[in-house]
Amino acid sequence: MHIVRTVKDLRALQSGLKAQGRTSALVPTMGALHAGHLALVAAAKGHADAVIATIFVNPTQFAAHEDLGTYPRQEAADLEALDAAGVDAVFAPSVDEIYGPDDATRIVMAGPAAGLEAAFRPHFFGGVATVVSRLLLAAGCEAAVFGEKDYQQLLVIKRMVADLKIPTAIHGAPTVREDDGLALSSRNAYLSAEERATAPALNQALRACAAAVRGGLEPDVAEAQAVETLQSAGFAPDYLAVRDADTLGPLTAMDRGRVLAAATLGRTRLIDNIAL
Ligand code: PAF
Repeated sequence: MHIVRTVKDLRALQSGLKAQGRTSALVPTMGALHAGHLALVAAAKGHADAVIATIFVNPTQFAAHEDLGTYPRQEAADLEALDAAGVDAVFAPSVDEIYGPDDATRIVMAGPAAGLEAAFRPHFFGGVATVVSRLLLAAGCEAAVFGEKDYQQLLVIKRMVADLKIPTAIHGAPTVREDDGLALSSRNAYLSAEERATAPALNQALRACAAAVRGGLEPDVAEAQAVETLQSAGFAPDYLAVRDADTLGPLTAMDRGRVLAAATLGRTRLIDNIAL
């Protein structure tokens, strides 16, 4: 497995792949890898001949009060896991390589980047769109894979890539869960044993809400019930919303619905979503 740390070396690696007639798929990550990331790698293999993963904890998607400083960093273990998963190359740049000292360009988005997560993390999607555009343009892959666990992020990236005409096909991959339904996340490492036992209640609340709406309950009533259940379980919910799966606007049809939630448990903010 090749490890490259500069855009120049990444481009040289991509030229080598193209010279061999091989397509490639990018799997952007912030490291602290778990089985969910390795599922993205497996999905990427289905879209191209070679897989390039990135490890970069992107400072522009964290607000000053968030966990940039404490975000888990374990590069050696991540590289080992990616090698074992059959990744061909890893791009692990420094912050300066992505954001030089004179850096002055940011992406500002509306559309799917409005509401839900953005209401609580207003800086987030601008930071994600900025770094993902840079990673996609630097890597020059034919495809890239992102997890559906960050469902709004996936829609934001698809919109950004379409608007900027970046020639990379964006694919979503299903959320990987623990047996009790908890969505895998690098931030699950922050949960105490007691919080870990409570955490699956987030997925249960999404399922209960979806079942209630399918059973004929008005979405806003089902949302309110689910929020109350989460509060009783000890969560501080930011939102739990039934939305159109493509636009994230109001629900238009049962078979186009998505239920999305974010809630804090102790000091850990968890997000999850399911199809209606
Ligand atoms: O989902 C993530 O891990 C990050 O938001 C991403 C897409 C790698 C951008 O930093």
